Amino acid sequence: MTAPATLPRLPHWEEQPADLPAAIREVKAALRARIAASGRSVDEVFAVVERRVQAAVDEITATRARGEQVWPVIEYADIASGAVSAEQVALLRRRGCLVVRGHFEREQALGWDRSIVDYVEGNHFFENYRGPADDFFGSVGSKPEIYPIYWSAAQMEARQSERMATVQAFLNSQWKHESEGVRWFDPERDSLYPDRIRRRPEGADSAGLGTHLDPGTLDLWMTQAYQQAFRHLFDGSVEQYDPWDAAHRTAGPQYPGSTMCSAFRTFQGWTALSDMDHDQGVLHTVPIPEAMAYLMLRPLLDDVADDEMCGVTVNQVFPAGDKYHAPLLPALTGIPDVRAGDSVWWHCDMIHSVAPVESQKGWGNVMYIPAAPWCPRNEQYSASVREAFLTGSSPSDFPAEHYERTWLDRFRPEDLTDIGRRGLGLD
Ligand SMILES: [Fe+2]
Repeated sequence: MTAPATLPRLPHWEEQPADLPAAIREVKAALRARIAASGRSVDEVFAVVERRVQAAVDEITATRARGEQVWPVIEYADIASGAVSAEQVALLRRRGCLVVRGHFEREQALGWDRSIVDYVEGNHFFENYRGPADDFFGSVGSKPEIYPIYWSAAQMEARQSERMATVQAFLNSQWKHESEGVRWFDPERDSLYPDRIRRRPEGADSAGLGTHLDPGTLDLWMTQAYQQAFRHLFDGSVEQYDPWDAAHRTAGPQYPGSTMCSAFRTFQGWTALSDMDHDQGVLHTVPIPEAMAYLMLRPLLDDVADDEMCGVTVNQVFPAGDKYHAPLLPALTGIPDVRAGDSVWWHCDMIHSVAPVESQKGWGNVMYIPAAPWCPRNEQYSASVREAFLTGSSPSDFPAEHYERTWLDRFRPEDLTDIGRRGLGLD
């Protein structure tokens, strides 16, 4: 089924529209008209997605009911030696998430964790901490669990390590990165997206984070690039929607906001710096990459007001919840127990949450390191990353806290490896 060439064009806003309700009304009407012009109704197209996603939800809940592990787990050694089986790859692509066992030696990860403590304590971070600077993690309280620290030796060593590059290349290669005569990204080169650290202490109570997703907000419907990326949802060829197709995702703009990510990430991820049991307030996902089609089409149904996008708006995290997405949520599944040195990954479009915990057993420490392959969008952002790196500043996607500017023992440019230099665009 291919789309007729005569479908009506969509209005688009390359910068955030001034009148959001008016723009939402306009784009929704145009998306509905475009689907109708393809010869199918919105309800019919949505029903196709609903069936596909419901089958995945049923399979996941049945797997869990049998007491089997939902999250795929792959040994680092198998990724490094190319010994990952076709079945494992198929499961990774079906679930869109992965635990890499033994990504780093446990002692290495524990050593990094200790060195981060030395780094922040030696620089009197806790005495100088001014409180959470954004509303996203603000609910965790004044005692920092999220450290707005980006340039420790530990973080940079992990980001520029061979082992990280190996796993990122493996994950990137799950995506279709060449089509229409364009190489959308380079799967072998990461852009070292700098992010923060979480260290949640033993005994902590945490409310967690509700189900949400991170790829964007209204820009997902309103910019030309994303309209092309999600073209199959709106042109009558919904069966061809492929959550692993990077086409048109790696150069377009994003609307600014406190929760934005300027980079294109194939997978979000973190590396464990402590052992964490599965019931200690850990990450959960709805492990269904194609659920994005459901999330994108759901606002077009009749029960959603014309100026409403199922709660999505600029400058706030994209919510997933009972009101509009209830059929997806039974699939929400937590990670298995992980040990320091394991890493955890999930497709950039997937719904995720962090479970609440009371009186946490052991520490809950992670370094956020995604897979953000080199592409026009990430190359553009890398200019501000280089500047932040050289001056010890907070990267421009994050609140301007700049704790590390005066810290003398942050990671030094002369300690960059080839991977690090390439990742920062210095070569
Ligand atoms: Fe998130």
